[in-house]
Amino acid sequence: MNINEALEALEREGMEALDALSRSEELPVWYRAFLGRKGRLTDVLRALGKLSTEERPAAGKKGNEVKIALENAFNDRQEAIREAELQAALSSDAVDVTLPGRPVKPGHLHLSTRTLRRVREIFGEMGFQVYEAPEVETDENNFELLNIPAYHPARDMWDTFWVDDQVVLRTHTSPGQIRCMRERHPEPIRVILPGKCYRYEQITPRSEHQFYQVEGLAVGHNIRLTDLIGTMQQFAEKMYGEGRQMRIRGSYFPFTEPSVEVDMDCMLCKGEGCRVCKHTGWLEVAGAGMVHPVVLRNGGYDPDEWSGFAFGMGVERPAMLQHGIEDIRYFYGNDLRFLRQF
Ligand code: PHE
Repeated sequence: MNINEALEALEREGMEALDALSRSEELPVWYRAFLGRKGRLTDVLRALGKLSTEERPAAGKKGNEVKIALENAFNDRQEAIREAELQAALSSDAVDVTLPGRPVKPGHLHLSTRTLRRVREIFGEMGFQVYEAPEVETDENNFELLNIPAYHPARDMWDTFWVDDQVVLRTHTSPGQIRCMRERHPEPIRVILPGKCYRYEQITPRSEHQFYQVEGLAVGHNIRLTDLIGTMQQFAEKMYGEGRQMRIRGSYFPFTEPSVEVDMDCMLCKGEGCRVCKHTGWLEVAGAGMVHPVVLRNGGYDPDEWSGFAFGMGVERPAMLQHGIEDIRYFYGNDLRFLRQF
C-alpha cells in the first residue's frame, strides 16, 4: 500500500470512528489514536522519509490535508457532542414548576417554653400579672435586701456566678420581689415572675447551671398562709389535674417567715410510691412562705399594715416528672431527637 492509499484509508477510518463517538470522554481517546504524537497519522507520515525527493512533496501535501481534515472533523464533532450533552443535562435537570413543593417541617415550642406558658396562663386566670425582672442582678437585690447579708450562712444555699464584686447572675427569681415592691408600693401586688436563673453548680442529671423558675408574690392587707396554700392547691389542680393532694412542710428561707416547702402527691404513681418520687409518694413543687417583715420593709411596705406570700417553683423539674424525663441536661442539649417528642 502506498502512502497515498494509507492516508486515504486513515482519513476514512478516522472519519468513521469519529462519527461513531457519542460521549465527550471518548474524544481524547480518538484524538490520541489518530492525531496524537504516537497516533496513526504520525506512523504514516514517518514513512515519508523513505520516499524519493520527487514523491515526497505530493505525499507531504496529502498528509497535511488529511491532518487538517481530521482536525476540523474532530473539532466539529467535539462541539456537537458537547452541545448534545449540555442539552441533555439541561432537560434532565429542568425544574418542573408545576410539581408540589417539598413541605417545610414546622418547628414547635420548646418544652420549657410550653410549660412556662401554661404556668403563666393558669396564674393569669387567678389574677396574677407577669412581672419581668432582669437575669443579671445586683448582689443587693439577689441577697442583701432579701435578708441574706454577706456573712449569712444561708448564702451557701446559692452558689453564684459573679459578674463583678457587686453583680451576679441571679440565683433565683426572688430579687424580682424587691424590684416589683419598690416599683408598686403602696399598691397591693399579685404577680408572677418567670425567668431564667443561674447557679454555679456541678451539672448532673438533676441539676443544671441554668434553669427556669416562676416566682409568685402577693402583697396586700390580711394575706395569710392559707391564701398561699389555696393558691398552690388551685394551681396544682389546673396544672396537673383535679383532686391533687398537697402537703406543706416547714422549711427555712431567709426571706419568708414562716417558710414552707410545698409537696404534691406524685402524679406518676398517684401517691403509691415509685422511683420518681423516691417511694415517698410526694414531689417537691415549690419553696414558699409569708414575706419576711424585713423584706416587706425593704420593698417599701410597712409590715404592721401589710402582709404577703411568696413562692418559687421550678419549671424543668415538674416537666421532667410529668413526662418521665430522667435527665435535666436534655433541656439544654438541643438534641432534636429529644425536643421533637414534646
Ligand atoms: N428563692 C427560693 C429558691 O430559689 C424559693 C422561694 C421563693 C422560697 C419564694 C420562698 C419564697 O429556692
